[in-house]
Amino acid sequence: MTSTIPKPALPDTTSQRQQLRKIIRTQRQQLSAEAQQQAATNLATEVLASDIIALRQHIALYLANDGELDTYPLIQALWQLGKSVYLPVLHPFVAGYLLFVRYDKNTLLYPNKFGIPEPLVACHRLMPVQQLDIIFTPLVAFDAAGNRLGMGGGFYDRTLSQLPPDSHCQVIGLAHNCQQVDAVPGEAWDIPLKQIITPSKHWVFN
Ligand SMILES: Nc1ncnc2c1ncn2[C@@H]1O[C@H](COP(=O)(O)OP(=O)(O)OP(=O)(O)O)[C@@H](O)[C@H]1O
Ligand SMILES: [Mg+2]
Repeated sequence: MTSTIPKPALPDTTSQRQQLRKIIRTQRQQLSAEAQQQAATNLATEVLASDIIALRQHIALYLANDGELDTYPLIQALWQLGKSVYLPVLHPFVAGYLLFVRYDKNTLLYPNKFGIPEPLVACHRLMPVQQLDIIFTPLVAFDAAGNRLGMGGGFYDRTLSQLPPDSHCQVIGLAHNCQQVDAVPGEAWDIPLKQIITPSKHWVFN
């Protein structure tokens, strides 16, 4: 008599994504302070040397958390160039969405519920997502097709889904090289990126 050996269950997409987040977050958290600093300098140099920002004024960035690629040298360079910089803020009334608030040298920041520093929401400092020229997004993992895995909150997916298909806004993922994986297990709501910049490469997808 033959017995049927049950096949080992394949991890479902949700647990694959969780596992990938854990692995890649650990890797980026383990980068040394020197490696982080070098990566941040390289990023700023790479963006300034490209034609991405020349004709664009309203630029959203993020402040690095959890080992993310540090954007501060780039933000300082953008201020020097007279660009308007914005930071994401958790929407105070609509859960799961981000607002973008103007960030200058003198803007005071306060930690949100995740401990990430944010400017205060004030109407005259808000920039509607559709009016931003560039949104640089953080990410946990990406693949060579531009698929993006975030921290799991869906904040960027929801917020970017507000952009019309013909939006002029360029959405560009920023990541360390070590955050590239073979394939990001995708979900229907994930918004793929058309560009990703690492400290050593500018990926453009079509
Ligand atoms: N456009 C959307 N509308 C409603 N819910 C959404 C939308 N996009 C994503 N979500 C929800 O957000 C949750 C987390 O999504 P996901 O795992 O893709 O987050 P993430 O991409 O890792 O995070 P983030 O976008 O903040 O970087 C999912 O439960 C998903 O259903
Ligand atoms: Mg997603």
